[in-house]
Amino acid sequence: MPEAALHVGSGKVRELYALDDDRLLLVASDRISTFDVVLPTEIPDKGRVLTGLSAFWFARTHDICANHLLALRADGRSTECRRLEMLPIECVVRGYLSGSGWKDYTSTGAVCGHVLPAGLTESSELPEPIFTPATKATTGHDENIDRERAAELVGAELFDEVERVSIALYRFAAEHARARGIVIADTKFEFGLDDGTLVLGDEALTPDSSRFWPADEYRPGGAQPSFDKQYARDYCESLGWDKTDPGPELPEEVVAGTRARYVEAFERLTAIGFDEYLADPGAVNR
Ligand SMILES: Nc1ncnc2c1ncn2[C@@H]1O[C@H](COP(=O)(O)OP(=O)(O)OP(=O)(O)O)[C@@H](O)[C@H]1O
Ligand SMILES: [Mg+2]
Repeated sequence: MPEAALHVGSGKVRELYALDDDRLLLVASDRISTFDVVLPTEIPDKGRVLTGLSAFWFARTHDICANHLLALRADGRSTECRRLEMLPIECVVRGYLSGSGWKDYTSTGAVCGHVLPAGLTESSELPEPIFTPATKATTGHDENIDRERAAELVGAELFDEVERVSIALYRFAAEHARARGIVIADTKFEFGLDDGTLVLGDEALTPDSSRFWPADEYRPGGAQPSFDKQYARDYCESLGWDKTDPGPELPEEVVAGTRARYVEAFERLTAIGFDEYLADPGAVNR
């Protein structure tokens, strides 16, 4: 654990320590949450997959937007970061219709104020990626909001900037991933301000913050197989769990299956063996 660092917070997945006034140590645990409930069972190495993949993307996207990463530690799960004043919205970009986007579309024909063509099916590719922000709920589930509400929360000028940057990041990553056999259906970014400058924070373009689908099995018209936590979610739902705390224990085969999917996403996207990453996390920066 971090030497003289002060523990300043726990998220569902990460522990946050203050290194000094300007820097945080973010430690990604192996915890998994489904439907916003942390499950009692951990997925070995999941935190390392998230940390390594985020660092991989941070190294490749700083021309699009500055990010908070200062240093990746040798344990492969801890990062030293610039401490940001986080914006109160989750910056979601959707290239495909799934999850709450699909649900909103079926009831209103629109997602977060974006009116979409009629006749789309579940998992359809959208004509253009859309920015669909959500509130950061301190308790309960995030809620999709339209651009007016989001612009009220962060200011109109900053809203325009986060929309533009989020879509540019998504386009870059979706193109990279597509060439490696993965469809990034949607993803969520969290930005903050550092002395007034917009900086990408948190994790980025990971299987926890995105929907990753195997491109060769993509068939619009229903739900898709995935490289993210959908597999664990499906198991939890199959039990008839009411999605309130405490969540169910995961059996060994679901733990192994989830771990394998996370590792496969890492290896496909980075073209780096996960063992190679464990031996030398710096591999993701080359
Ligand atoms: N550079 C940064 N400066 C300050 N806070 C950050 C930074 N990067 C990420 N965070 C915050 O650290 C936390 C990361 O923890 P984690 O991902 O476990 O949280 P979460 O479960 O997604 O959300 P919550 O914090 O609501 O539980 C988030 O609250 C995120 O907004
Ligand atoms: Mg998080």
